[in-house]
Amino acid sequence: MTVDQGHASIDAVTILEHMGTAVLVFDDQYRLKSINQAGEAMLAHSARYLSGRDLAQVFVNAELVRFSLNSTLENEQTVSQHGCLLQLPDASDLRVNCTFTPIRDSAGETFVLLEMRQIDHHLRIEQEEGLIMQQQATHELLRGLAHEIKNPLGGLRGAAQLLERQIGEAGLREYTQIIISEADRLQSLMDRMLGPNNLPKIEPVNIHEVLEHVRDLVRVEAGEALHVYQDYDPSLPDIQADRDLLLQAILNIVRNAVQALEGRGEIILRTRVRRHFNIGSNKYRLVARIQIIDNGPGIPEELRKQIFYPMITGRSEGTGLGLSIAQALINRHRGLIECESQLGKTVFTLLLPLDEKHES
Ligand SMILES: Nc1ncnc2c1ncn2[C@@H]1O[C@H](COP(=O)(O)OP(=O)(O)OP(=O)(O)O)[C@@H](O)[C@H]1O
Ligand SMILES: [Mg+2]
Repeated sequence: MTVDQGHASIDAVTILEHMGTAVLVFDDQYRLKSINQAGEAMLAHSARYLSGRDLAQVFVNAELVRFSLNSTLENEQTVSQHGCLLQLPDASDLRVNCTFTPIRDSAGETFVLLEMRQIDHHLRIEQEEGLIMQQQATHELLRGLAHEIKNPLGGLRGAAQLLERQIGEAGLREYTQIIISEADRLQSLMDRMLGPNNLPKIEPVNIHEVLEHVRDLVRVEAGEALHVYQDYDPSLPDIQADRDLLLQAILNIVRNAVQALEGRGEIILRTRVRRHFNIGSNKYRLVARIQIIDNGPGIPEELRKQIFYPMITGRSEGTGLGLSIAQALINRHRGLIECESQLGKTVFTLLLPLDEKHES
């Protein structure tokens, strides 16, 4: 089929490749015969990798799809399913509306055309955009505030030191010592709020090396009954990033998990590559997805929507800065941190673009 547009014409394959809907074709043996670009993006694998694979290798909960494929083939009628929750082999979920249509090729063989539209896709993009903007604004406000506090604080500390030298009486020195130590405490808090002030040192970073370093650090702190497992995708390429900033961001998240588990439980460090993936409204060809998963008590319900804001803490000795700093550091790498939490499963997902170019 071709569509005429004045002198130019667009063939059906080009149209299929540029459609926003994922289109998959299965044969009567439930093998994937063809997939378009939107399908590759949704399933996070290339057409080359997916072609010829059995349905059970494409979806973990293949039974749901197999049932509809079967009835489409048997009755030669279109079947629609709304709100299917499909699980992918990389442990991610997709909520989609599906349409199964029987088709025949010129040799008379029957296939099933599966169209899939992701339900929460646009909602997620809008939410992410809002999140990035809000958090950047809050972070800037906080940096400004920290900067303003630092100057008078230095003066205050200096004056207390001078005063201490003038006072002979040891009993009164106790008071100047309190001023000095509290000023120091505030100073280090302000330094954390300001974050690193050097320009990021961008170089190729092996994310697995960073994760292993984090693993070594927390294993020492965590003790015997807390296990940190790796589930790495070896095909993940190096990422252009500042290693120390990335390490800091991941460590803040993993430390929270360790604290939540109180010495007992498990943490999984998982990496995957996502293809044609959105971070906010920017579309990237390749994105690194790093997940930190723990089986602890979950984030308290009343905090869930706010944990990336500064000064939000559920711990008596917490400053509530760890996650807002982590988010700011990842934002500096054009990435984003998301979180989902429930009793027994908390997942922090870091999304970092792996390529420079992005399509708008
Ligand atoms: N994996 C997790 N499980 C349960 N709760 C969590 C988890 N991660 C974060 N939280 C909650 O989110 C809050 C905010 O975390 P954040 O790292 O920003 O601050 P903090 O840990 O309280 O203090 P800081 O990191 O500055 O020392 C924590 O106090 C905790 O209540
Ligand atoms: Mg923390």
